[in-house]
Amino acid sequence: MYYPVIRPRRLRLSDNMRRLVRENHLQVDNLIYPLFVTGGRNIKTPVAAMPGVYNLSIDLLLEEVAAVQTLGIPGILLFGIPDYKDATGTGAYDENGIIQKAARTIKDKYPDILIITDVCLCEYTDHGHCGIVQDGDVVNDATLELLARTAVSHARSGADIVAPSDMMDGRVQAIRKALDSEGFTNIPIMSYGIKYASAFYGPFREAAGSAPQFGDRKTYQMDPPNAREALREAEQDIAEGADIIIVKPAMAYMDVIAAVREKFATPVAAYNVSGEYSMIKAAAHMGWIDEAKTAMELLTGMKRAGADIIITYHAPDAARWINSV
Ligand code: PBG
Repeated sequence: MYYPVIRPRRLRLSDNMRRLVRENHLQVDNLIYPLFVTGGRNIKTPVAAMPGVYNLSIDLLLEEVAAVQTLGIPGILLFGIPDYKDATGTGAYDENGIIQKAARTIKDKYPDILIITDVCLCEYTDHGHCGIVQDGDVVNDATLELLARTAVSHARSGADIVAPSDMMDGRVQAIRKALDSEGFTNIPIMSYGIKYASAFYGPFREAAGSAPQFGDRKTYQMDPPNAREALREAEQDIAEGADIIIVKPAMAYMDVIAAVREKFATPVAAYNVSGEYSMIKAAAHMGWIDEAKTAMELLTGMKRAGADIIITYHAPDAARWINSV
């Protein structure tokens, strides 16, 4: 008869024993909550594929921010739904644009909560692409100037961190230079450095009305099978001055989160995107999975993979689940 000497089960025998040897903890400190802001008053439009997520007018957004602050979540990520769209995404860098107004109002009422703004043109262009389009494709260098203007106008309106999500080459450097020359040397750039051309953004595009009107985003967002290329993207963004690197989406890219964590000392954020949220919500709604347990397992998995920060639509629920343990 063989008796094992090493018995890993010894350290799993009770809840307290498991707590004692637990390696990773998802904390409320790690969470960022994305919010969609729209014009008008008293507007709360549900996003069909994302139960619990709404397009909110600024007055109702403030209530949400208050709730987020009470839960102890350190920051929000703002996406704007503008009143008008045009070829060059003017609404993105309009001093009276939706993000600019929302940021000023939040900063005024809740100065402590970190306001992170998504810097991109796709919600503001009539063609839905993330930059200026010429001959059927997004032109890189001309777009950089507009992204830089957008980032500066966000900072001027009270953004604490700017998060470029367009995937143009060189935009971190362009934004850093523009911020610095306007005196915003202390505003960090949280770069969507590693953003894949993913089918998991579907529900977001419904929420933000930002689906491309022709073609797709494959000429600027990354090809999902690639991982080494992610390290090149991260290296480039860090060299250009990125303070935090986002990997997006998260669930299908845990290896990429781990690889970036391993190679660079820069903080890493995982973006648990809209389609990932919708899958959990749908399966839970059908009674097929336990929402809290599966969501916490996924978010903790992102932490274990190496994410310091997790951007997730589950943030308020996750904070409640964490706080109630
Ligand atoms: C804008 C942007 C997108 C997301 C964040 N910023 C959509 C896209 O690239 O099409 C996706 C977020 C999500 O799916 O939750 N470029």
